[in-house]
Amino acid sequence: MAGSGKGKETHADLQQEYFRSHVGIFLQPIPDEILARTKKIAESAGLNSGSQVLDVATGTGALIVHFLELGVKEENIVGVDLTDAMLNQARERFPKVNFINADILDADTVIGKPNQFDAAFFNACFGNLYDQKLALEKTQKLLRSDGCIIISHPLGKRFVKALHDSDPEIVPFLLPEKEQLLQWASELGMKLADFTDEPDFYLAKLI
Ligand SMILES: C[S@@+](CC[C@H](N)C(=O)[O-])C[C@H]1O[C@@H](n2cnc3c(N)ncnc32)[C@H](O)[C@@H]1O
Repeated sequence: MAGSGKGKETHADLQQEYFRSHVGIFLQPIPDEILARTKKIAESAGLNSGSQVLDVATGTGALIVHFLELGVKEENIVGVDLTDAMLNQARERFPKVNFINADILDADTVIGKPNQFDAAFFNACFGNLYDQKLALEKTQKLLRSDGCIIISHPLGKRFVKALHDSDPEIVPFLLPEKEQLLQWASELGMKLADFTDEPDFYLAKLI
């Protein structure tokens, strides 16, 4: 279902404008407690030194540091983001990662080949999308047959709801309930392999 009531391109323009003017927030040091949660998110996909990873809406690359700790090679990571100003920060930090300035809804045309990735992450971005199910569909096409999609937020569903309530144009959706994920998984021929919904932590793994 589409989000803001506006077209996809207008929604994308609004996202870019918002994140261009909020880059500074993402340059602040991340507290250890949150780093422990983003580490747990990265670990949930069972990555190793041979993994190919897609970081959807990578922003300034908050998850990439954990992928590298898990042995993933920088050149085997693709980070996609709509906002070039966010990507510029990530490019400086991780020069060998392949960063693509694009909408994940255009994934099939702008990102590599199908059957490429072992894991795709949507961290702290899933409520911002124009069409959540379409984003999953497009991402699934890029996965290997045993690949997984992780939808996560290190501050949980409550935090995303607060963002949605204060700025529904930028965050048109909440994080999905288990029933919704089960329905999408069945429609996409996937399985909900893990679901954690705690007050300050959300993680869903589709395989
Ligand atoms: C909260 S920020 C950063 C999230 C990042 N994954 C992290 O863990 O820090 C959300 C990011 O989502 C990006 N974004 C929003 N919608 C997008 C879309 N449809 N495709 C690609 N990037 C998108 C924004 O440009 C922004 O950089």
